[in-house]
Amino acid sequence: MNVHATALAETHHLDEPTSAFARDVIDDLSRAPKRLSPKYFYDATGSELFEQITVLPEYYPTRTELSILRDHSRAIAGFIPEGAALVEFGAGATTKVRLLLGECRLGAYVPVDISGDFLSAQASALRADYPGLGVYPVTADFTAPFELPEAVRGMPKVGFFPGSTLGNFEPGEACTFLKGARTILGKNARMILGVDLEKDERTLYDAYNDTAGVTARFNLNVLHRINRELGGDFDVGAFIHRAIYNRDRHRIEMHLISKKALTCEVLGQKFSFRPGESIHTENSYKYSIERFALLARVSGWRLTETWTDRNGMFSVHALVASD
Ligand code: AVJ
Repeated sequence: MNVHATALAETHHLDEPTSAFARDVIDDLSRAPKRLSPKYFYDATGSELFEQITVLPEYYPTRTELSILRDHSRAIAGFIPEGAALVEFGAGATTKVRLLLGECRLGAYVPVDISGDFLSAQASALRADYPGLGVYPVTADFTAPFELPEAVRGMPKVGFFPGSTLGNFEPGEACTFLKGARTILGKNARMILGVDLEKDERTLYDAYNDTAGVTARFNLNVLHRINRELGGDFDVGAFIHRAIYNRDRHRIEMHLISKKALTCEVLGQKFSFRPGESIHTENSYKYSIERFALLARVSGWRLTETWTDRNGMFSVHALVASD
């Protein structure tokens, strides 16, 4: 970590989440090439823009995953032992888990999310709709180790990680996450994951370059957020959205490209951009079923079943801990 960035966050009296944001932004813009973490897309505006993305005609992942969960809810729920605690990693809205709840008898539902307020609102709504269900939310960053609530001790554990969020991780980070989930969930754990599949370049390209420009606004919002929360002076209009498919690395890359030479300042630190210079803001990895099975295997899990849509666009996988 950049010592200078820490000192700056202190001087500017930032609260803990904001100073973590400040440190990451200053570290990541000091690199060559520059980058920003996709986790900072999701402030209130960014979360709203992402909701809009999920219903765009070009953005197939969300609706396809929902159709798989709906069409195969019996079989997927059948993979969840009776009385199990279902632990959802990064539970935002509870739309997806609701598709399974009707089909299985859970012992408990444990939504894990970094946003505590949103989480408790979702938990109350779920308790109202499923009066018999024990809901035990955990406010935590699910990419780091966390404790499961006492109430689910002794129940079989099933992890739930839909949405292809795994695609935001580098392959090595994805392996670390899966090993960590195995540790948190314990012996005999199971897991259900949603993963976007590799496919023709046109479909992938269009999903991240929608004609309505919502993805562009979503990408650019991170600069607005830096201006709002860190007092930055980014000329947001001087940047353009770029999303490309990197076939060799099986990933969509999102970038913000500076149209001209410019300098901006964040917390008293100056950052200069060359014309055409990029800030790499996101990777969205796409897996074939074979490559995902290999990733699972080297991460302590065995792939036992895969459900897809008829066009093979998206996949939902069932994993069993291998020891
Ligand atoms: C939420 C990470 C699955 O990679 O497709 C959507 C985020 N970025 N459009 C994805 C996203 C641009 C999304 N994930």
